[in-house]
Amino acid sequence: DVNWIWYLGLGYLLGSIPFALVIGKVFYKTDVRNFGSGNLGGTNAGRVLGKKAGISVILCDVFKVVLAVAIVAQFDREASIWAGLAAAIGHCYPVFAGFHGGKAVATMFGFLLSTSIFTFGNLWYVLVPLIFFLIVLYLGKMVSLASMVAAIVSSIYITIMQYNISFEVILASWLLTVLVIYRHRGNIVKIKNGTENKISWL
Ligand code: G3P
Repeated sequence: DVNWIWYLGLGYLLGSIPFALVIGKVFYKTDVRNFGSGNLGGTNAGRVLGKKAGISVILCDVFKVVLAVAIVAQFDREASIWAGLAAAIGHCYPVFAGFHGGKAVATMFGFLLSTSIFTFGNLWYVLVPLIFFLIVLYLGKMVSLASMVAAIVSSIYITIMQYNISFEVILASWLLTVLVIYRHRGNIVKIKNGTENKISWL
């Protein structure tokens, strides 16, 4: 089906919008790639520019995935899942920022929120990983660790709930989990060494 090229392309392009870079440059005259972890994500925007910027980047990054999935879901529900994954890939490897993007955490929550709405009709698919994220963040103070735990939990939950129902969603979700963990490989080394950034405000 040739339409899939449009669906995946739309997901990839929307995901490629580097909001950490845009918001940093437009409102703070700062390129967050030169500071903190150098990552183009909400965590690093918050670290470098402050909480307001971090939250804005996270909301925009979640929204771009929800938008991609919502648009494609109007035409093809099955394709909308893959458009969501394409958006996460675009976020990590953005055509608009030299293919160096973020770590797919906010976009993963965008994927989970939008598939919760458009595929499952049940918000627990986003709430369960979010609860784990918050607990691990509270206990460990590391966004990276909380993000990886949330990614694994989200796929386990989807696998259990969709077993015998939707193989495609399970596959897409595990691919996203692998992407999130792969993008955190630098963080994993730092966590092992005890040098990972910790948040101070929780
Ligand atoms: O937002 C991604 C987060 O899990 C880690 O980001 O900047 O601490 O490497 P950072």
